[in-house]
Amino acid sequence: PKQKGWIGSYIYNYQGFWTSPRLIQGVIGCQQQFQAQDNDILLVTTPKLGTTWLKAILFSLNPHDLVPFLELKLYVDGQVPDFSSCTPPRILSPHLPYDSFPKSVQDSRTKLVYLCRNPRDTFISMWHFTNNLRLDYIDINSIEEMFDHFCKGVSLYGPFWNHVLDYWGKSIEKSKKVIFLMYEEIKEKSKIQLKRSAEFLEFPFSIEEENCGVIDEILRMCSFDNLSNLDVNINGKLSTGEETKMFFRRGEVGDWKHYFTLEMSEKLNHIIKQKFHGSGLKFLYI
Ligand code: A3P
Repeated sequence: PKQKGWIGSYIYNYQGFWTSPRLIQGVIGCQQQFQAQDNDILLVTTPKLGTTWLKAILFSLNPHDLVPFLELKLYVDGQVPDFSSCTPPRILSPHLPYDSFPKSVQDSRTKLVYLCRNPRDTFISMWHFTNNLRLDYIDINSIEEMFDHFCKGVSLYGPFWNHVLDYWGKSIEKSKKVIFLMYEEIKEKSKIQLKRSAEFLEFPFSIEEENCGVIDEILRMCSFDNLSNLDVNINGKLSTGEETKMFFRRGEVGDWKHYFTLEMSEKLNHIIKQKFHGSGLKFLYI
């Protein structure tokens, strides 16, 4: 079934999650042709959870080109991607739900780094992003209309709660295949979260590296101020045409307060309480 709104004039429900006309080919191409390898690292998010930041933290200063968005960059025009220039470990960034990956992801020793963010800031970030995209297939809805869709689970790669709960469940399994990170915790306790991620990926920092400030330097380079002021992120464009500056807006926790009415907070609280009941997962809003 297709539903009006969100990031396209229409987004489609495919295997239980919502995806856009632009991405559907990529999603299917990826499912049919992507072969995960043992040392692959997949950075999984839904849009606006801080993908760009995580890409930078785990890799580089020009994250979009170096950590491709799996479904969009690859397969969209029916092209099988050329990975020959990627030095292992390959780092790729999909938005797919866990069960929608090809079997090789589950069967290999591929590791998944999942980044989550509180649903209010995620929604507001998505609202701004959608407005800024101004692509011709986008039908910009009012914030109320978009919020209504979000609450019904209609958002790109949503329902938001299904996506999050899926990976949360995997992260608490013994297999250690998925690490679950939270945007707000990386903001608050950056060093601890960076060390935790490095250990999970089996690239732990040595005492010497720690003592000579390597962790602080990575965090400085990946800070919102530093990344958003790089020329490549001010003037650059993705290979798909979007301006890189769109991925840097405020980079804060709690911006939802400038937009949410009491009614919106109450409605979303109610849904979140219901959906996450018993999961043990708690969101941080400020
Ligand atoms: P806001 O719109 O709330 O500012 P994605 O990369 O998944 O599209 O997510 C974009 C969101 O991450 C935006 O949130 C953006 O500002 C924020 N972001 C980008 N780089 C960041 C950084 N270095 N630190 C914190 N937040 C960052």
